[in-house]
Amino acid sequence: MSAPRSAPPAPGPRGNWLLGMLPQFRADPIQLFSDLATDYGDIVAFPLFNRPCMLLRHPDQIAWVLKENHRNYGKNTRGIQKLKSILGEGLLTADGPHWRRQRRIAGPTFRPKRIGGFADTMLQAGEGMLEGWEGLASSGEEFDVNEAMMTVTLRIAGETLFSTDVTDEAKELSQALSTAMQITNKRVGRALDMPASWPTAENRAFRSAMRTLDEIVAGMIAERRASDDSEADLLAMLIHARDEETGEGMSDEQLRDEVMTLLLAGHETTANALTWTWHLLAANPQCRAKLEAELDRVLGGRPPTLEDYPALEYTGRVIDESMRLLPPGWLFGRAPIEDDVIDGFSVPAGTLVMISSYITHRHTDFWPDPERFDPDRFLPAACEARHPFAYFPFSGGPRGCIGRGFALLELRLLVAQIAQRFRLEAVPGHPVELEKLVTLRPLHGLLMTAHAR
Ligand code: HEM
Repeated sequence: MSAPRSAPPAPGPRGNWLLGMLPQFRADPIQLFSDLATDYGDIVAFPLFNRPCMLLRHPDQIAWVLKENHRNYGKNTRGIQKLKSILGEGLLTADGPHWRRQRRIAGPTFRPKRIGGFADTMLQAGEGMLEGWEGLASSGEEFDVNEAMMTVTLRIAGETLFSTDVTDEAKELSQALSTAMQITNKRVGRALDMPASWPTAENRAFRSAMRTLDEIVAGMIAERRASDDSEADLLAMLIHARDEETGEGMSDEQLRDEVMTLLLAGHETTANALTWTWHLLAANPQCRAKLEAELDRVLGGRPPTLEDYPALEYTGRVIDESMRLLPPGWLFGRAPIEDDVIDGFSVPAGTLVMISSYITHRHTDFWPDPERFDPDRFLPAACEARHPFAYFPFSGGPRGCIGRGFALLELRLLVAQIAQRFRLEAVPGHPVELEKLVTLRPLHGLLMTAHAR
């Protein structure tokens, strides 16, 4: 994609003389990006306050940034800098040699064979949750499905990755994470930074949320460091990892950053993917009927197991289509280290290059009638014929999601386990709005009722 250096800037609006497009971004980033793509096409340049930004929509451009020319696209963006106040220098936020080393250490935990060993724990956690659902179904009580999915995925992440039972702390942990992320999001969208030391209500709430998170994570690490019979899980690998050159282990601070990152990245996105799947299935009863027919046929009334994974094809397609329309990791950014040229337009070093799966997953050249929920878009022949970067709920290239296989297993097993026994229905009048944070979440939770099948 490189071309002469004198390439022109991409088309796009200048917005307000001082703030650029920041007011629109803060009001509704998805609306802004949809409008930009409609008005200007696949590549758009615009300022957010004093920061030059670009939005890329075409799969060729996305492949270029994430894969072909990934070395030129770092993570030194404002969003990542702000996220570091929660996650420190963990896998998601680190860059360069430190990131490479941490990714090497974490890699073995996410190999397919290892992940398969987590299936029973995933199903046990799901089973534990469903025990409480019989009562919900007979009383017809409304409940927040998002909260239920957060609790179960947090429990799964705690047990599989760190051999820790976080059931007791789950609510406190989820709430603290939500608060920290909401505040971080506000900070990303501000023109100017407010010093973190000022005694404002927001800073106090952030510090209190971080204290809760730090205490829980420090407790997990201390308990494990003290115990001799450490399980060979991710936490053990992180604790015992030695730098190839210096032979040194990770400091408590580095460990804390990795544990916090994996705990957050390992449950929040998966919980939201499950939540949106229940929402979309309730809105598309004909697809739900096909899903239930597959579950009845493949499982014949017995609980699902790891071995059922390949046969639950339609279940997999429902999940893929759910993450096409409502991808939990809907937006991420990169900063070019050196000047680049994409599609004949200049991409100066330091520009905030934004990539949104939410927007590309609706590109009509690749997704006809994009708002329609149609799992059969993911039939094998259709996938093979499509551009590999037309769909990227887990990003792609070397910095693609390390937990992709883990998440896909957890999603398929839990959707099968839950939909086999319960049908979830929307609560009429409950507003379903997108909260566009680091991840896409339901702003008012997702109230539903459960009905035994
Ligand atoms: C449906 C579930 C999931 C979705 C949609 C998702 C999505 C993503 C996306 C889009 C990225 C790239 C972010 C960026 O480039 O800034 C990413 C990175 C990452 N994800 Fe996931 N993820 C999911 C589940 C998981 C799970 C289960 C884990 C761990 C157990 C995990 C751990 C990570 C980590 C550590 C990274 C950073 C990887 C790196 O930069 O080397 N994710 N994920």
